Amino acid sequence: MLDKSKFSGKLRQLGLLYHADWVRFYVEKFKNRKANHEFKKKNPNVKLPPDYLIYESFQLDYEKYYAEGKETAQWLINHLLKHTNLKDKKILDWGCGPGRIIRHLPSIVGNNCKFYGTDYNKDSIAWCTKSLKGINFNNNTLKADLPYPDDFFDAIYGISIFTHLSEKMHFDWNKELLRVLAPGGILFLTMQGDNYKAKLGEDELKKFESGMLVIRGNVKEGHRTYSAFQPKAFTIKLFEAIEVLEHIERPIKGNWYPQDIWIFRK
Ligand SMILES: C[S@@+](CC[C@H](N)C(=O)[O-])C[C@H]1O[C@@H](n2cnc3c(N)ncnc32)[C@H](O)[C@@H]1O
Repeated sequence: MLDKSKFSGKLRQLGLLYHADWVRFYVEKFKNRKANHEFKKKNPNVKLPPDYLIYESFQLDYEKYYAEGKETAQWLINHLLKHTNLKDKKILDWGCGPGRIIRHLPSIVGNNCKFYGTDYNKDSIAWCTKSLKGINFNNNTLKADLPYPDDFFDAIYGISIFTHLSEKMHFDWNKELLRVLAPGGILFLTMQGDNYKAKLGEDELKKFESGMLVIRGNVKEGHRTYSAFQPKAFTIKLFEAIEVLEHIERPIKGNWYPQDIWIFRK
């Protein structure tokens, strides 16, 4: 039997993982073609991003991108509402991709809130800007440098973004997010925590167990094939300047390995 993770580890070492991931994209596109075609037929008014943008940021499944995106948006808002009211607030989706979540927030939240999305992928932002009205989009660089003033946002969320960044970028983005978050503001993040121990190799696991960040690089940083795994101790230390409101670990279900949820208050 082919050991998938050893195989992709080999491809990564050889610098071929990014290319292999393109092959995987075409396989997924072919596998899901009927279901995706059906979705389009049933939902002619739903604007869909180009396939590769959906694949790169999520899964190439239109129903999941749209319907699960909406559920995730509601789920996120329920978490935020435990800690803040969402009236007249400014909310940022850091790493919004092709809008899977932020596109639903204006109708879910309303309440005179203002919505912002930023991503380093210029194609995602170009599509969002053209297709999703009433939301302010920005194309940032991989470097931690956002165009917003200090203390600007009341809530910021980043779903699976640190999970694609190097160690240096963890520290740089930590500073930048805290710069643009208002005092008392809420930060909602997901990280690849303990659930991912099951996916780590022996050396990686030792590092993780000792509380150190584990990185799988040798591909373009920020891309889906670049992975970072954050032990609890690492995340706590990284965000020591602010208050941890919640750390939620969810059980693994089949081949779904939920990321840890971290909710902080500045
Ligand atoms: C796994 S996808 C998640 C997308 C979106 N949050 C969602 O849940 O659908 C990771 C996203 O992070 C973006 N990204 C990676 N590094 C980034 C950075 N430094 N700043 C902003 N976005 C980044 C990628 O372009 C991609 O859209």
